Amino acid sequence: MDLLRLIDLAPSLSLRTARLHLRRFTADDVPMAIAQENDRRIMRWIRDAQEPAAVQARAEGLAAPWRGLDGEWLTLTVVPHDTGMAAGIVVMRVTTAASATMEFGYRLSLDVHRRGYGFEACVATCAFLFATIGVRKLVAYCAADNVASWRLMEKLGMQREAQLREYTLLDGGWRDEFVYGLLAREWQEPL
Ligand SMILES: CC(C)(COP(=O)(O)OP(=O)(O)OC[C@H]1O[C@@H](n2cnc3c(N)ncnc32)[C@H](O)[C@@H]1OP(=O)(O)O)[C@@H](O)C(=O)NCCC(=O)NCCS
Repeated sequence: MDLLRLIDLAPSLSLRTARLHLRRFTADDVPMAIAQENDRRIMRWIRDAQEPAAVQARAEGLAAPWRGLDGEWLTLTVVPHDTGMAAGIVVMRVTTAASATMEFGYRLSLDVHRRGYGFEACVATCAFLFATIGVRKLVAYCAADNVASWRLMEKLGMQREAQLREYTLLDGGWRDEFVYGLLAREWQEPL
């Protein structure tokens, strides 16, 4: 995995698909990130509602320079060509550099769900990380009840590798978490 290359590309990272532009998250995207954090329909399976100060700090942190440290998220903003408006984010991070493995995640505003944007954005992300960065393995996590998320992972060709029982505290209860994985040699970019 060429981590130095990813660190080098990160400040101006830009991926284009037929309908989407994925570009580095900037300070201009903070209001969109805050609006998403405050929308329980989007965040229901990600984390509980946070204090406004924590939401603000988290959203601003997404625009911070990325150093490629283990566990540090690199955030791209998803912008559909037809509106030119930020509609969500795709995030990625090195789990541990020693395992040459990265984790990714995604969330989109409700008004653009079920158009195939989530899949399209993830295909572009996986293709870039495997082909350009040489990542050996990608993993993604989701609450077991987050059917939209794990179906998207399965559409990408990921395999369910684990079910972490009672792992994430959401809405007062400990929820199971699924772990999905995809090896570089298994990746088949959809036509
Ligand atoms: C998960 C999410 C990004 C999917 O984005 P999307 O653009 O609506 O998904 P797509 O239209 O690309 O759908 C891809 C596949 O995901 C599955 N899927 C998406 N939404 C679904 C839903 N509401 N119910 C069941 N399956 C769903 C389907 O298998 C779909 O393939 P299909 O259209 O061939 O049936 C979106 O639902 C979201 O932002 N959710 C809130 C945030 C979140 O939970 N993020 C993940 C945290 S782990």
